Amino acid sequence: MAKSKTSNKSGSNRHKEIGRSISPFSFHLRSEAEQKRFLRTNLLLHFRPFLVKEKTLPFTLSWGLGGMAATMVLLQIATGILLKFVFVPTPIEAYGSVQALISQVPFGRLVRNIHHWSANFLVVVLTLHMLRVFLTGAFHPPRQFNWIIGLALFTLVMAANLSGYLLPYDQLAYWAVTVITSMVGYFPGVGGLIQQALGNGDGLGPQTLSFFFSMHTALIPCLLVVLMGFHFWRIRKAGGLVVPRKPEEPIDVTPSRVPMIPNLLVKEIATALGLTATLMLVSIYFNAELAAPANPGLSPNPVRAPWYFAGLQELLLHIHPVVAVSVAPLMAGFFLISIPYLPYPHSTEGIWFASARGGIQSATSTIAAITVSSILIMIDSLIIKTASWSAGISPFIRDGILPLLLVIILVLVWVWVMRKRWRATKNEITQALFIMSITVLVVLTVVCVFFRGASMKLIWPFI
Ligand code: HEM
Repeated sequence: MAKSKTSNKSGSNRHKEIGRSISPFSFHLRSEAEQKRFLRTNLLLHFRPFLVKEKTLPFTLSWGLGGMAATMVLLQIATGILLKFVFVPTPIEAYGSVQALISQVPFGRLVRNIHHWSANFLVVVLTLHMLRVFLTGAFHPPRQFNWIIGLALFTLVMAANLSGYLLPYDQLAYWAVTVITSMVGYFPGVGGLIQQALGNGDGLGPQTLSFFFSMHTALIPCLLVVLMGFHFWRIRKAGGLVVPRKPEEPIDVTPSRVPMIPNLLVKEIATALGLTATLMLVSIYFNAELAAPANPGLSPNPVRAPWYFAGLQELLLHIHPVVAVSVAPLMAGFFLISIPYLPYPHSTEGIWFASARGGIQSATSTIAAITVSSILIMIDSLIIKTASWSAGISPFIRDGILPLLLVIILVLVWVWVMRKRWRATKNEITQALFIMSITVLVVLTVVCVFFRGASMKLIWPFI
């Protein structure tokens, strides 16, 4: 007993000694046992794997997108804490406190700009991360549940963006969030209740601001951190990232592994520093907007949702609100959740675009989606909405049921074409549908942001 105590003690002393004496630069010169011990005793590195698969190291697999997202979430939390020292979450004082922040507080404008640009970049980076994960088949078992955690993370980031958008309480924020919260009212059954909880019945007042503030600064960041931890743990549980392979190559079950330090850590640090430097530069040269103080009696024309919700706003111009706000997002959500659980004939894990011909199919699907959605937007805006014959038809049939049927028919035709002409597999068809959905969302967003003028009429931009 005494002997084991002594050996434990000397073991733990050795532990501390090694923890102190190894630097990340001399790490690879140490024995494997010493390296492992060092990782275990270092708080931050404790979360990282000791060995990583060699073939997952090239930047062209992950493009560093997940790491960039994590960096930006941390930046958001750090800058958010600083902003919280100055911001006052009441309708009367919020605007003034932001003005004071950017004009009187040293580096206040820079901190606000970093928070603003990082939030916007995060949406783009996350969309690209999701695309990369999807296009390398990284949603197949054993990573299927991590895809779902990823979706929850994405939803949280969108909620963080929306709840933060209102806080400066300027005209831009007030009316953009009014557009979004009025959309919520169209959720069948619960829409009215949610609106009441948000206090939208009497405009966006103290109740809404305080609710958004609490969500933005407490609940959402906590959930994000916990879920991110879960996300990273699941990556380790799955044995690391997917190994890229050619379609004819089998999955390598014993890939060669190398120590995480310095092979991966150096790349991660370089990516995080490069991203932070870019965000700093953007934040030095481009200021986050602050319009006139919110005026509930005077809406700007047009009232535009923030760009990441502009696709939904554009959809609302064409499709009945019940379909645009509840049926379409529910269908999209169901599709996204079901992606990893569909019965595929084989796993495409690690194969870019699922097969050798997947790239061509995806490009063709993208072009088809851009063409068809642009034509439909123009037909609806310029012909159907302005034609007198369409005025007699019930709006729910004209703008709800008929467009939904049209979309279902178009999707079925595309699936049929893929099956008959390309002999496409289930993996390839799911891939085409996923890519087409994202493309249509991008087209809707671009049209709403650049091609809509006063009263949301179609315009030519830059004229
Ligand atoms: C705040 C949000 C997120 C953060 C911080 C994050 C972070 C990461 C990181 C660091 C990785 C490892 C390597 C890389 O791809 O860069 C990763 C992998 C992964 N992520 Fe995310 N992610 C987020 C959101 C998402 C979303 C929205 C999805 C999909 C819906 C997703 C699904 C996955 C999957 C399945 C993997 C494993 C990929 C593989 O094994 O190759 N993540 N994530």
